[in-house]
Amino acid sequence: MRRIIIDCDPSPDDAVAILVALASPGELNVLAVTTVAGNVPVSLTAKNARKALELAKRMATPVYAGSTAPLVRTLVTAEHVHGRTGFDGYELPEPTMGLAQGFAPDAIVDLVMQRKRGEVTLCCLAPLTNIALALAKEPRLATHLKEIVLMGGAFSEGGNITPAAEFNIFVDPEAAARVLECGAPITMIPLDCTHQALTTKARLEKLRAFGTPVAEAFYHLLKFNKIFDEQKYGWEGGPLHDAAVVAYLLAPEIFSGRKVHVAVECASPLTLGMTVVDWWGVTGKPANVQFLRDINADRYFDLVIERLGRL
Ligand code: RIB
Ligand code: CA
Repeated sequence: MRRIIIDCDPSPDDAVAILVALASPGELNVLAVTTVAGNVPVSLTAKNARKALELAKRMATPVYAGSTAPLVRTLVTAEHVHGRTGFDGYELPEPTMGLAQGFAPDAIVDLVMQRKRGEVTLCCLAPLTNIALALAKEPRLATHLKEIVLMGGAFSEGGNITPAAEFNIFVDPEAAARVLECGAPITMIPLDCTHQALTTKARLEKLRAFGTPVAEAFYHLLKFNKIFDEQKYGWEGGPLHDAAVVAYLLAPEIFSGRKVHVAVECASPLTLGMTVVDWWGVTGKPANVQFLRDINADRYFDLVIERLGRL
């Protein structure tokens, strides 16, 4: 049983990660969902998280709102991918559940530090602002965590928001650098993995076949969400990025990678937010990340779709 906190900026791939985790109570205990500004402003990410929980009738999980902006930079959002709401493509009712009281970074610190060392895993699906703030508030957090599993960065896949940078890292590179050097065990799931995991027509139809409200909603949300990437890359389907973090916790065997040193570019205007992955160990710097470069996409979607079908 893993106790997890999911820090996210829901667009549909974040929401799928949350629901897959909640559909796996025998393996994962979701202590809280914390939200941050990223794909859309935090007022919307906090709303979208609650919409997903209510759709799945899982309102017992507290949702906290976090940072409205990166540590030092101006917020860059991704409405061009996810629509103005971050949840375009399917109308979900306004949430009736309220936000949990408190600031997300404070909740992260409290939930981790009130438990024994090594009991809580942070699942990071968004810009890492909340995590960096939590580390600034409680320096012992890093050594108290079991693991940080994050979706972000890239090695040979380059970038998706700029030619050099992946969105979650690009939005708050200083926060990402802070997290990567914090000393906690870190597993990184980059674009190299998620660009192999596409929401093809067949996979979306397999989801829809459950005929449940969750399946119908996420069929349409993911169908909208893949338009941008299909037009950009010419693929059939879009990458289901964030659910890979939860899939790693449930089935690590469908991934492969190695421990390497990863650093973040925080200065160059040309390559800001680039993750510099020392895959061949040429720097001699000690590994700070388990970097997962490959995924078995069929087994990934079998897992994700089966779990969503339980809700
Ligand atoms: O680059 C992909 C990441 O950016 C995912 O977390 C997606 O939800 C967006 O936040
Ligand atoms: Ca995300």
